[in-house]
Amino acid sequence: MKTFSVVNQKGGVGKTTTVLNLGAALGKKGRKVLIIDLDSQANLSRSFGIGKTIDKHIGTVLAREHQAKDVIINKGIDIIPSSLELLKYEKLISSEETYQFILEETIKPLQKLYDYCLIDCPPSLSTLTVNALVASDFYLIPLQPEFYSYDGLRTITDFAQKLTKLNPKLQLAGIFPTKYNPNARKRLNHDVIEHTKELFQEKVLSVYIRDNVSLAESPLNQTDVFTYAPESNGAKDYMQLANLIVKL
Ligand SMILES: Nc1ncnc2c1ncn2[C@@H]1O[C@H](COP(=O)(O)OP(=O)(O)OP(=O)(O)O)[C@@H](O)[C@H]1O
Ligand SMILES: [Mg+2]
Repeated sequence: MKTFSVVNQKGGVGKTTTVLNLGAALGKKGRKVLIIDLDSQANLSRSFGIGKTIDKHIGTVLAREHQAKDVIINKGIDIIPSSLELLKYEKLISSEETYQFILEETIKPLQKLYDYCLIDCPPSLSTLTVNALVASDFYLIPLQPEFYSYDGLRTITDFAQKLTKLNPKLQLAGIFPTKYNPNARKRLNHDVIEHTKELFQEKVLSVYIRDNVSLAESPLNQTDVFTYAPESNGAKDYMQLANLIVKL
């Protein structure tokens, strides 16, 4: 199992949308995929109609009340859901001396069951994000190309670099633009991406996720973009991203 964390401390940049649709794309390519909702907002879980208040979720896994395998729900794709309660569990585990390794340990028994595991991180570099990065082989950074949105990128890569002491295999898989608008009037999008390329060179992926309403609408219909709008730009772009990810 190759594990990817989707990380950005900035909110609303497309982390959850990426886990949902990259996961679905990898599934369409015949890979066995597990997605983990590690955010107490539980947006990923709600994209599948899984309620905010459930009694088995990633928090109870981290607290070792349940085994990871017993919490998985199949919604076409296998998901370990989250809950608003996760905040409480995050506090609880933060006081453990080796809290950084809890997620890695709890998902270890699933290693042989899946080809890919994608982790949806909260918009913060918190205890939970530390756990995600320590459990991962790679991390992916969605970037919404706005004024100075590249400013926070170095914060993430420095943070991850420090964690390689705990997880030497951790690598940046890439940074990719989301909600990209190629329209000439949105020249800012282009300029931000060019500047990010100067800073991060080949780590900026060649796949841009365009601004596409089907990506925003599909979770409201409790499904991914491939089921909701298979011909949309959103479906095309996330399939391209999956094509790139399987080559890593
Ligand atoms: N490429 C896109 N085109 C159009 N809308 C998008 C796109 N990507 C994401 N969105 C929409 O933007 C909003 C924020 O996206 P998303 O929830 O994936 O971000 P996030 O980084 O997970 O946010 P948070 O940090 O709050 O968890 C959602 O309403 C989502 O549907
Ligand atoms: Mg999210």
